[in-house]
Amino acid sequence: MNKVRIGIIGLGNIGQVHVNNLLEGKVPRGELTAVADAFADKLPEFAAKGLKTYDNADDLINSGEIDALMICTPHFQHTTLGIQGLEAGLHVMVEKPISAHKADAERLIAVAGKHPDRVFGGMFQMRVEPRYIKLRELVQSGELGDLIRVIWIMTDWFRSEAYYQSGGWRATWKGEGGGVLLNQCLHQLDALQWIAGMPSKVRGHVGIGKFHDIEVEDDVTCYMEFPGGTSGIFISSTGETPGSNRFEITGTKGRVILENDKMILTRNAVPSDEWNQTSKIGFKQPDTMVEEIPIPAAEEPHAGLLTNFIDAILDGADLIAPGSSGIGSVELANVMLYSGLMDKPIDLPMDGLEWEEKLNELIAESTHEKKIAEVSSEDFTSSFRR
Ligand SMILES: NC(=O)c1ccc[n+]([C@@H]2O[C@H](COP(=O)([O-])OP(=O)(O)OC[C@H]3O[C@@H](n4cnc5c(N)ncnc54)[C@H](O)[C@@H]3O)[C@@H](O)[C@H]2O)c1
Repeated sequence: MNKVRIGIIGLGNIGQVHVNNLLEGKVPRGELTAVADAFADKLPEFAAKGLKTYDNADDLINSGEIDALMICTPHFQHTTLGIQGLEAGLHVMVEKPISAHKADAERLIAVAGKHPDRVFGGMFQMRVEPRYIKLRELVQSGELGDLIRVIWIMTDWFRSEAYYQSGGWRATWKGEGGGVLLNQCLHQLDALQWIAGMPSKVRGHVGIGKFHDIEVEDDVTCYMEFPGGTSGIFISSTGETPGSNRFEITGTKGRVILENDKMILTRNAVPSDEWNQTSKIGFKQPDTMVEEIPIPAAEEPHAGLLTNFIDAILDGADLIAPGSSGIGSVELANVMLYSGLMDKPIDLPMDGLEWEEKLNELIAESTHEKKIAEVSSEDFTSSFRR
C-alpha cells in the first residue's frame, strides 16, 4: 500500500477543512475517496468532486472504499463511531475531543488497545506548531529548571450568540457534554498537559451561561496543583473581547512567556532556589538574560498532523498525537467543570463514571430551550487556528 484511502464522517466546519486539505494535495499519500454526512443535502457538492458519498456513517464504514476514517461529527459520536471504525478494521483519526467525557474516552481507548494493528490518532494540531513544540522542549529538557508556576490566560475564544445558534448540538449538555472547556479550550488543555503534565488536584470556578443564552460554561477560572509542587492557573472565556492568549511558564532557571505571537525567554543567571538560599541581600534578584525566541507559524497544522497519521499507517512512524493521549484534555475539561459545579477541589485521576453520572443528570434535567438561527460561518477558518 503506498496510499491511504480516507473517508470523512461529518462535513461541517472542520470536516470541510480536511476535505479541502486532502483534495488540494496537502497530505501526501492521503487520498480522500469517500465522505458521509447525515444531512444528505450536503452530499451533491462532494459527489461533484468525484467522491463517493453516503448519508450515514455505517455505509461509509462498511463501504470497502476506505482504509482510514476521520470522525468530524459532534462530540458524543466520537466514541461510538471510533469503536465502530476500529472494529471494522479501519485506522481511525478522531477530531478533538476524542470523547465527550472521560468514561467514554476510556471505552474508546480500550477498544483501540485491542486492535494494535490499527492506527488510532487524535486531531490535536497544536502539537505540530513550532511555538508549542519549543515550549515543550524548554520544559522537558530542564532548561527552565524545576517548574514553579504555569499560567494560561486564554480568553481569546470570543463567540457570539450567532455562533451558538448555528448548530443545535452546540453548547448543550446533550450535544457537547460541556462548553468552552470541552470545545474551544480542548486544544489548550491538550497542549497544557502535553507540555507540563497532568495536575494532581484541580479547583475550578465556572460561569454557566454567563455571557450567552446557553446551559453550559462559557467562563472558567481554575487553580491546579501538579505533582512535585508546581501550581497553575487556567482561565478561559468565550464572552470577553479583547481577549488574551498569554501562556507563562516559570521555573527555577527562568521564565518563558508566549503572548501575541512573541515568545520571550528570561533566564536567571543563578537559579531562583539557589539564589534564595545563598543571597545575603534581602531584595535583590539574580541577574537575567532576556531573549526573544523566533516562532515560525505552522502553515497547515491540520494537514501536518494528518500527514503524520498517514506516515504512521504506511511507515510505522510514531504518532505525534496518539488517540489515547487525548484522554488528558478530556479529563481536564471534565474535572475543571465538575469541580466548579460541585464547588470543591477534585483529585486526579478523577472518577470518570462519577462525572458521567452527573452529566447524565444535567442532560436529563435540562430545560433550556436552544435557539437555532441561520448564520454565516464564513469567518470559521480564520478564527479556529490558535
Ligand atoms: N481540530 C480543530 O481545529 C477543530 C475545529 C473545529 C471543530 N473541531 C471538532 O470537530 C467536530 C465537529 O465540529 P464542527 O464545527 O465541524 O461541527 P459542525 O456542526 O459544523 O459539523 C458536524 C457535521 O456532522 C454531521 N453529522 C452529525 N452526526 C452525524 C452522523 N451520525 N453521521 C454523519 N454525519 C453526522 C452534521 O450533519 C454536520 O454536517 C467537533 O468535535 C469539534 O470539536 C475541531
